[in-house]
This record gives sequence, structure tokens and C-alpha cells, in this order.
Amino acid sequence: MSGNTQPIGVFDSGIGGMTVVRAMMERIPFENIIYFGDTARTPYGVKSPETINQYASEITKFLLDFDVKLLIIACNTMAAVAYETVQDISPVPVLEVIDAGARTAVSTTQKKQVGVIGTPATINSNVYARAIHKHDASVRVFSQACPLFVPLVEEGWLDHTVTRLTVQEYMKPVVAERIDTLVLGCTHYPLIKPLLQEVAGQEVFLVDSAEAIADMTADILAEQNLGTPSQEPPEYRFYVSDVPYRFQTIGERFLGRTLTNIHLTKL
Ligand code: DGL
Repeated sequence: MSGNTQPIGVFDSGIGGMTVVRAMMERIPFENIIYFGDTARTPYGVKSPETINQYASEITKFLLDFDVKLLIIACNTMAAVAYETVQDISPVPVLEVIDAGARTAVSTTQKKQVGVIGTPATINSNVYARAIHKHDASVRVFSQACPLFVPLVEEGWLDHTVTRLTVQEYMKPVVAERIDTLVLGCTHYPLIKPLLQEVAGQEVFLVDSAEAIADMTADILAEQNLGTPSQEPPEYRFYVSDVPYRFQTIGERFLGRTLTNIHLTKL
């Protein structure tokens, strides 16, 4: 039988990457997934590139030990700063959220005016602008770091006055540029999509990098004949480096379903 039943390895700095797992569960429902979230050391978005690279290489080695057939960097911050480190040590294909989001943005924008929001590490790396320009150099990119969004989402303040005011404040300069497309360049942002849509304006298309990477994964599996032939319910296994306060509640919010099969591990 053709195809490959090995799991797909997905990783993030914490539990935010479960927005990517959620999109993958919908898009490729028979694939086994092993997830690693570095909950002991999150957030990465405010850390230095050296530290982020070191953490990313430790996680890659951990997941490769499971004989994964594909690695997905669900974390925008690690994708922005440590993609080459991961690719250098991985014998299997590595996909990441930034290229997926950039491609969708380029194919969507009519006015060629794109906004990108993310953590300080992601925005300072300028990787989104470079990825967008690789596909279309004429697109103008307006970037904005939004460091307060991650803690607000983790607090569950998805439609709270404080979050609304914070969104309005961060989005002001981006909206002023009359963008028609906005890239949600962080694992946490899909959870505040309705608020971001409201503040950006209904006419602005929001690029959800979780959905974009799930589509890209489905394409690669088909192209490289790596998709599972199984039609049985798959196994989802979650490894985390710590089980922090309210982990279950927050995790289930990201995943959109009950969170089971969680294992605590140290790298
Ligand atoms: N996962 C990170 C990202 O997508 C957000 C959380 C963090 O800062 O670690 O950029």
C-alpha cells in the first residue's frame, strides 16, 4: 500500500500551536500528530534569537526521535528566527507557518497593501516582509509588533474591553495604511479573529497562518506521496515541558476540543 502512517511532528513555544493542530485535524483528519509545546520556557516572542535557536534545535531532536515523516514549525517566532537551524538537522521536510501565510497574503491582496502583526521577535526579524517580497516584490508590507496580545489571549480575554482597546491601539498605524489583507503572524491571534476583523474593517481579509499551513501540509503529503492510507481515527499525542496553571482550560480553548493524551517531558 502506498503512503506513510508515520506521525507528523508539530511544535510550538507553548500551547498556542494547537491552533495549527486544530486546523490540521480538520484538513487532514486521518494523520497521526505528535505535538511538542515548550510550556516551561514560553513565551519565546520576547527572547533573543540565540536562545530561540537553541530551544528550536532541542525540540527538533526530540521530535525526530519519534521517526516523524514531516516537521511543522507552528510557532511564528521560531519560524522567523530558527527555520534554518531546524532544516539543517532535519532529514525530513520542514514546513513553517510564515511561508504559508506569505503565499496566501500575496495571492489575496488586490491593492498590494498587506499588514502583518506578530510578536516582537517575529516582527524584528522582518522575515514576513522578505517572504512576501519573494513572491511579489511590489507588495507593500506594514508590520506591527503586538506583545500584549499573547498574555491577553492566554488570560481568555477574547472579547474584553481591555483587549479591544489594545487591539485598537496596535492596529491604528496599520489600518491607516489602507491595507486590504492582514496576516495574523502568531499562533495566538486566531483566537481574537472576530475582534481583529472588527477593528481592521470587514473589507480586510485576515490570513490565518494556521489554516494556511494546514493547506500546505495537505499539498506536500499529496505531492510526495506521504499521506496516510489509514481511514481509522488517528492518534494525537501532546508533549509539554510543564503543566502550568489553567493548562487544560487554555489548551482546550486553542484546540477547540477536549485535550487528552498529554505527557510531561524534559528536553
Ligand atoms: N508561539 C508564538 C508565536 O507564534 C507566540 C507565543 C510566544 O511568544 O512564545 O509567535
